[in-house]
Amino acid sequence: MSDATEPVRVALVGAGDIGRAAHLPALLAHPAVELAAVVEPAAAARALLDVPGVPVIAELDAIADDEAIDAWVVATPPWVTPRLARHGLERGRFVLAEKPIATSVKAARAAFDGLAPALAARLQVGFTYRHDPAVERLAELIASGALGGPLQVRVVVYDELDDPADGEHAARLRATLAHGLPVIHEGAHVADWLRVLLGPAQLDVEHAWSLRTLPDLPADNLCGASLRHPRGHRVQLEIGWLLPAEVASEITIRGAGGCASIDIVTFALRVAGRAAVTDMVGTGDRTTRCFGRQLDRFVALCRGEPVAGPNGRSAIPTLADGIAALDLTERLARRMERTR
Ligand SMILES: NC(=O)c1ccc[n+]([C@@H]2O[C@H](COP(=O)([O-])OP(=O)(O)OC[C@H]3O[C@@H](n4cnc5c(N)ncnc54)[C@H](O)[C@@H]3O)[C@@H](O)[C@H]2O)c1
Repeated sequence: MSDATEPVRVALVGAGDIGRAAHLPALLAHPAVELAAVVEPAAAARALLDVPGVPVIAELDAIADDEAIDAWVVATPPWVTPRLARHGLERGRFVLAEKPIATSVKAARAAFDGLAPALAARLQVGFTYRHDPAVERLAELIASGALGGPLQVRVVVYDELDDPADGEHAARLRATLAHGLPVIHEGAHVADWLRVLLGPAQLDVEHAWSLRTLPDLPADNLCGASLRHPRGHRVQLEIGWLLPAEVASEITIRGAGGCASIDIVTFALRVAGRAAVTDMVGTGDRTTRCFGRQLDRFVALCRGEPVAGPNGRSAIPTLADGIAALDLTERLARRMERTR
């Protein structure tokens, strides 16, 4: 599709937690998008939907060949996502597929190998939080050399609490842990941030650890690692799920030119040099902002309009970005398993 006067007709495939809470409001609010259908096999999840006039269906097959639908937003678990994404791409749909793109590089390659490059180029991976203006500004600051180098980088994410009052959330996290450590799931965002901030060079894993704070979990829920960038940057990361209380979650970058930090809850950016401190605070809440910007870029992809991101690179996360993030998180997970 290329006519910018026509709305992009999008189906939401998977109306679970993030589908309902973040994709749906973004799709309904976007002036260039028409929500064409919602596909959700679970009756309980369908019952929570309030989308008057929009067909809500249980089976993807019912719309898979509908040529009037330009694009699918696939918000399913990563052990389901690659098969559905390929299904859509093969039918010529544009696909915004949630991260991680699969649960392993092997699964991703099995799903996407042999796909014509022109069809693969219609895929955008849901690395939602690379789209925040604070992340883009920080990437530009680092590339400009303003913070100096080599840099010390620390990424700490503890944003999925153990809330006894929310049994559905706890059950979903436990089910997800059965498919890999938090570094595979939450770590997808972290791996993508590191690529956006430091560039695509491969990070070496020097050390990694994991531990289980609750005995009955299917996998360790806290994990961390030390990594080294070929340009000498040192990276520390920590990712944890199911803690009983909030712990600061942030990206911090320190170098001879200054220190920068992003609070991962608000995405406020603070840059402190020797003489001055500057703050950049985004408008509204980070979820609405980032899902909205992600969708802006998906609409541009559907219309064949290039979107520049920080440092002259495309703003749109590709299949290669999705596999590169998985490659890092999988190397991390393997090292964590070995050091347990
Ligand atoms: N981008 C982000 O910031 C962000 C945030 C949270 C979650 N996620 C990712 O989104 C994905 C979904 O997470 P969630 O928390 O919403 O999970 P969820 O389990 O709440 O929702 C997934 C939904 O997909 C549905 N589904 C399963 N198979 C399907 C199929 N064949 N066709 C259509 N629907 C199907 C399920 O019934 C369920 O309702 C995960 O990969 C997760 O990592 C991304």
